[in-house]
Amino acid sequence: MAGFWFLAISSFFFCLLLVRMAVSKNNKRKKMRDSRCKLPPGSMGWPYLGETLQLYSQDPNVFFTSKQKRYGEIFKTRILGYPCVMLASPEAARFVLVTHARMFKPTYPKSKERLIGPSALFFHQGDYHFYIRKLVQSSFFPETIRKLIPDIEHIALSSLQSLANMPIVSTYQEMKKFAFDVGILAIFGHLECSYKEMLKHNYNIVDKGYNFFPMNLPGTSYHRALMARKRLKTTVSEIIRERREKSILKTDFLGHLLDVKDDKGRVLTQEQIADNIIGVLFAAQDTTASCLTWILKYLHDNQKLLEAVKDEQRAIYEENSREKKSLTWGQTRNMPLTHKVILESLRMASIISFTFREAVDDVEYKGYLIPKGWKVMPLFRNIHHNPKYFSNPEVFDPSRFEVNPKPNTFMPFGSGVHACPGNELAKIQILIYLHHLISKFRWEVVGGEEGIEYGPFPIPRNGLLATFRQHSL
Ligand code: HEM
Repeated sequence: MAGFWFLAISSFFFCLLLVRMAVSKNNKRKKMRDSRCKLPPGSMGWPYLGETLQLYSQDPNVFFTSKQKRYGEIFKTRILGYPCVMLASPEAARFVLVTHARMFKPTYPKSKERLIGPSALFFHQGDYHFYIRKLVQSSFFPETIRKLIPDIEHIALSSLQSLANMPIVSTYQEMKKFAFDVGILAIFGHLECSYKEMLKHNYNIVDKGYNFFPMNLPGTSYHRALMARKRLKTTVSEIIRERREKSILKTDFLGHLLDVKDDKGRVLTQEQIADNIIGVLFAAQDTTASCLTWILKYLHDNQKLLEAVKDEQRAIYEENSREKKSLTWGQTRNMPLTHKVILESLRMASIISFTFREAVDDVEYKGYLIPKGWKVMPLFRNIHHNPKYFSNPEVFDPSRFEVNPKPNTFMPFGSGVHACPGNELAKIQILIYLHHLISKFRWEVVGGEEGIEYGPFPIPRNGLLATFRQHSL
């Protein structure tokens, strides 16, 4: 009986505590809304539509830059029905992505989540995200990826050799094929050709459907993409089954996903594994391909710089030819000019121009209220193109990276808890591709049309049409 009363009284006090906590949280929110804080400046545009048409009828960067000029580094707007706060200062980006990251959750349209897979790490926050992220990071540590150099070289060389036999190609489409093959290598190690072809075929359908209107009716691109996604999962399950049957142990990303157990000894489900594999492929392919395409454009437009990069790469190529060895990890770490060209290309092109979060509660930032449920967008590109942080920001000048940028002003790979865990893999494959391209081949841009396309990442118009030919030094 005493036990019953003890339980009843403790439950009563526990409920009281919960009510008090809820009331105090509400009061805090109300106080913030009523008194000190005002919404950031800016225009919410038309009811529901907001400023969607203004954003989509022009280059989004022009939209963001004109807003920043008018309202400053923090401003509000409404896009696709969502109220948003845009942040164009390094401090604000740090506040959202690093110091107050738990107050801002990742947010993606449900249709995209369905296509990639809801268990992919970038849709999550908290324990599950932390758990998977550690796994992804350890699979793409420099110590792990340095072992991939000979295979990445092989992929780069066969891509270049096939390009040299082709007429005009879209550089971006070819770089996508290269980045996909490297992604497959990092995820599965050496994979049977038939599996690779199945993954490639179905992933391409998913990729196409990603940018279409998400109408799930037979015949639509989105529906085809969902069907292809199912087949991708089946192929991944087949590969897993075969590995288990033959007791194949590997240290690639799939090997890490299969081995991991949480503190209760539970392994990941097939869904979690498939979603994270498709997620990593998705995060890796277009970003890397877009970056490589921009580098080729910038080098083509700056012939003097290209000659200097050639000198750097030629020295390594000649040393390796003399000593009959292939590219080493040490050499990829010692390409200072090529490395600065990559950094400057990442800054200029700012492939991920901004990212999205959603406020999980009312948040105060510098006297402004960011209401619960509002989307929050740190604008990386605006920071990378602000003359306060990068002098003459529209000039392509790799030498600016001879000194480190000011803290939090250079975030091509994001920042904080969701920062890119694949940045080393991205850089090494770009360096390897450039090494072989520049030492043995030449490329000519065809057409010379200027301008940017979004698909959804920015790429040069028409994917940079070009010819590639073998070149003897
Ligand atoms: C030049 C190429 C790349 C660029 C510019 C890039 C950029 C980024 C950025 C800005 C983010 C953070 C997004 C956010 O905060 O919302 C991110 C996240 C991510 N990236 Fe990359 N990325 C690149 C290549 C890769 C590669 C090769 C991989 C493959 C391993 C990869 C895997 C990921 C993953 C899994 C995330 C989500 C991390 C998380 O949510 O914790 N990325 N990337």
